[in-house]
Amino acid sequence: MPVEYLAASRSFFLHAKDTTYAFQILNGWPVHLYWGPPLTAQNLTDFLPLRARGFVCQQGDYPLDNIPLEFPVYGTSDYRSPAIEIFQPADGSRILDLRYAGHTVSAGKPALAGLPASYTDADGEAQTLTLKLEDQLLGLRVELLYSVFANSPVITRSVKLSNLGRQPLSIRRLLSCSVDFSAAFGDYHLLQLHGTWARERDLSCARLRPGSQSIESRRGASSHQHNPFFALTELAASEEHGRVYAFNLVYSGNFLANVEVNYDGNPRAQLGLNPFDFSWQLAPGQSFQSPEAVLAFSGSGLGRLSRELHRFTRRHICRGSWRDRARPVLLNNWEATYFNFNADRLAGIAATAAECGVELFVLDDGWFGQRDNDQSSLGDWVVDLQKLPGGLADLVRRINGLGLQFGLWFEPEMVSPDSDLYRAHPDWCMHVPNRHRTTGRNQLVLDFSRPEVCEHIYRQIAALLRGTPIRYIKWDMNRHLTEIGSAQLPPERQQETAHRYLLGLYALMERFVTEFPDILFEGCSGGGGRFDLGILHYMPQIWTSDNSDAIARLRIQHGTSLAYPLSSMAAHVSAVPNHQNHRVTPYDTRGCVAATGAFGYELDLAKLSADDLAATKRQVACYKQVRGLLANGDLYRLKSPFTTSEAAWMVVAADRREALVTHVWQLIESNPRDHYLYLRGLDPALTYQLAGTDQLWRGDALMSAGLPVPRPQADFTSTQWHLVAQ
Ligand code: GLA
Repeated sequence: MPVEYLAASRSFFLHAKDTTYAFQILNGWPVHLYWGPPLTAQNLTDFLPLRARGFVCQQGDYPLDNIPLEFPVYGTSDYRSPAIEIFQPADGSRILDLRYAGHTVSAGKPALAGLPASYTDADGEAQTLTLKLEDQLLGLRVELLYSVFANSPVITRSVKLSNLGRQPLSIRRLLSCSVDFSAAFGDYHLLQLHGTWARERDLSCARLRPGSQSIESRRGASSHQHNPFFALTELAASEEHGRVYAFNLVYSGNFLANVEVNYDGNPRAQLGLNPFDFSWQLAPGQSFQSPEAVLAFSGSGLGRLSRELHRFTRRHICRGSWRDRARPVLLNNWEATYFNFNADRLAGIAATAAECGVELFVLDDGWFGQRDNDQSSLGDWVVDLQKLPGGLADLVRRINGLGLQFGLWFEPEMVSPDSDLYRAHPDWCMHVPNRHRTTGRNQLVLDFSRPEVCEHIYRQIAALLRGTPIRYIKWDMNRHLTEIGSAQLPPERQQETAHRYLLGLYALMERFVTEFPDILFEGCSGGGGRFDLGILHYMPQIWTSDNSDAIARLRIQHGTSLAYPLSSMAAHVSAVPNHQNHRVTPYDTRGCVAATGAFGYELDLAKLSADDLAATKRQVACYKQVRGLLANGDLYRLKSPFTTSEAAWMVVAADRREALVTHVWQLIESNPRDHYLYLRGLDPALTYQLAGTDQLWRGDALMSAGLPVPRPQADFTSTQWHLVAQ
């Protein structure tokens, strides 16, 4: 039974795969008991720190400021960071007293109104506990949803508020989860993914210290700067060992992740909508749904955590017909031509791509309006007949004639001040009256909190998709929000704008994926500026970074892989010197590093040397052989590009009969030492053949004696081994 209730101690035990999470109702409060390796349901009250201590105590109650709470409120004797704050305009009070008011258990995983969320294919894959809390004075109902997954060490949490009272309420803060770890927890690291454009998801790991540490976005998108994923890891945790507690949010906008360590060293970890510049008016009879938090546990290190999160994301976050399908090898024209193309040039590039076995040609920015640079036309989704005189239909016919499918770039959320759309509707962008409208990359952000704005964009794009066989869409978002305000909302609702923008965006994405289920959607945001579980619910892959340099990508992809599956990471082979950092790397290394679950090219193949062109054909053929393995296999990170001068990883099939191992040198040393890779995840008793040779190795030797890495001759060289069990 995933959800077990012990009536005698009023405690709940949530048993997901390989982990248990438990709490108990005490004085009406849900008090956190435990989260970690599987635990038999039992009375754990004796393990709680229920001593009278401190100088404030509610009458007849325990002092709360050291008690682990499931959903802490402001205004009691708990001085730590609350999960919820409600302002009561009638009397100015912010005090809440939420007490147990019942619970239900249901099969499966309910959808969340208006928001992306995890789901199951069959009810047996999860069970959901809804815990009802109520503030009797206000008539506020809080429903805490806990979904427990049978095939993942994952529990998801979200919160629904309902105003059942007579007074309007204002939500000032509503986090999706709050977890109080006890002192027994010991010393932990906070692991986070941070960065900026072209340096996304760099890894930082620092020891927790007393006080609050937070990671957040105030940019209107989950951002390049901080990813909503974070983890608490035992100090000695590694890829293979140690306890790891991970958190992520199924949301693409402003978020707050906060870890507060109190005076006794007990951390409180919280994640949810960022309360910064947020408030929401909740009239009597209305409800508000929070985004969903994903909580995952691994008792054996980060490697196991990632593999479980990858499976969970592939099966319970990503949806649609492309979820389990092999992704096409694509060629994107962006770095090949930028804005400088016409139909013949595109068809020429596509022809060489077709010869190499590429399956999909993607036309990036610059095909619409009069967009010869980044200064105009966003919002005018009408084909530029100067560049494409036969229209889109003619170009698609030519591309299809070469045996390639066709894909197209859009940036639906944006408007250029120099566009017909902006001239017709200057109030359709985010703005605050009488204030300057800050442009970013010469563009403004459309106010997607307004249904008529979303409707207009939907109609333009849907008309194009209905009239042309477009099989893939790259959905870009190249700047963050500023002057956040909506012309349509009254003054007291202006702080709802950023969240309403996301609700409008999600509704639009839902419409597109529902109406065009066969289109493969790829998310993008100035590279990887919106790489999160919210986007992955609509689009199974995301452009990982605008930085296409293979060596820079080692870190970006390693960091991203902590939380997100390879199948979600788009990666392309590009030209050298690299356009972002001017580095020159071998063609094979560019191929190895780009061979993730979503592989492609982003250069003019016709400009390659004969050797590189031949290599392209080999790469494409090889990728097609292993793409199923890469998309669905188990990832083992063998060498970290953050701590070694190498990087190595391997992907192993579920039945352990096939593996692809990749090793890349960053800077080599002179007279290099011998290096070995201790492979993981193979079957020790099986004998593996190195594909294309008669070389045979046993699994136990590869894992215990180690696979010798060829001595490097130059920086940035790489080796790949494709192992197939005999
Ligand atoms: C963003 C994307 C790029 C490309 C350009 C086009 O930067 O990340 O891949 O699509 O926009 O303007």
